[in-house]
Amino acid sequence: MADSTPSIPSRGIPSRQWRGVLHEYADRLDITEATPIVTLGEGGTPLVPAPALSARTGANVYIKFEGMNPTGSFKDRGMTMAISKAVEHGAKAVICASTGNTSASAAAYATHAGITAAVLVPEGKIAMGKLSQAIAHNAELIQVQGNFDDCLDLARDLSANYPVHLVNSVNPDRINGQKTAAYEVVEVLQDAPDFHLLPVGNAGNYTAYSRGYTEELERGVTTKLPRMFGFQAAGSAPIVLGHPVKNPDTIASAIRIGNPASWELALAAREATDGYFGAITDEHILAAHRLLSAEVGIFVEPASAIGVAGLLERSEAGVIPAGATVVITVTGHGLKDPQWALRTADGDDVKPTVVSVDAAEIAGVLGLQKAAS
Ligand code: F0G
Repeated sequence: MADSTPSIPSRGIPSRQWRGVLHEYADRLDITEATPIVTLGEGGTPLVPAPALSARTGANVYIKFEGMNPTGSFKDRGMTMAISKAVEHGAKAVICASTGNTSASAAAYATHAGITAAVLVPEGKIAMGKLSQAIAHNAELIQVQGNFDDCLDLARDLSANYPVHLVNSVNPDRINGQKTAAYEVVEVLQDAPDFHLLPVGNAGNYTAYSRGYTEELERGVTTKLPRMFGFQAAGSAPIVLGHPVKNPDTIASAIRIGNPASWELALAAREATDGYFGAITDEHILAAHRLLSAEVGIFVEPASAIGVAGLLERSEAGVIPAGATVVITVTGHGLKDPQWALRTADGDDVKPTVVSVDAAEIAGVLGLQKAAS
């Protein structure tokens, strides 16, 4: 149980280990002495300057690398909060619907707390890495013959009628945990950025960042709200279209959602921040995915690259002025869904060169000339 977590001995040296978002932001979250803190050390993720993207756009572009969280996605920020509160309220089991990352996170935090996680995922539609995580962390993994939206309806129904606690982002603890990412951006930049770009599925994270930034403005720590730009995959873009999408379709499986749970909250956040929602084709998502890995050095899952595609599109449209500070959240690690890196831009398989055990042959392949002796 979280309560019995040993402290790390300091030997007189001040400990610099990041303690997870509930400890780091205890005074700004709804926790008390009675809240058992269930943490895997989430948050404290790097804000990485991206010169390759700045050079392309003339803006000052930073990447908030959320794949660096314990289970490899931003979900951990909300899950530490949701599981801690669930345990505080005596829950023995939690349930969620998921396109993969929420299930991995719920499974890890629930097992750390000694409780059960039941996760409902659309059959055959979640990335192998995420499926493996949920199973590894002992979740009751149930594949539903339906899409994510069906899974969320079922999870709501089950939590209303059975003793299982819902930990999807309709649970306000999730959004409150996730808003800490905005606090971290502000701590690094010493103000809010001019623009914040991110993927949108259920629109929980879009809502969470705008809440975090709003709080920072109200505290007087920042001088402005960033304009919040959210991006959906073109085949799965209900907010952009203004109506639910019955059979959402995109290679970005994490955001294959036709009826976002936080739709209304997201529209309010767009209004408050002079924000924007746009749709991006799968082709442009994959191009941004390659650009991030090949030129910035950050490996993400396809859905996570959509903010970068959005930056290029909005920059070309003349909306993002030169010199603007832009933060893009990349939400999940590339190792969760690595297959996309093994395809060329034309959709062919990447074929690594094979050689014999021969240095001269390798030098030839690499185009190296022998150094003069
Ligand atoms: N990026 C990734 C990698 C995600 O897994 C998700 C959502 C999003 C972006 C969108 O965030 O829903 O707050 O707008 N994944 C959920 C899941 C639905 O079940 O893992 P959102």
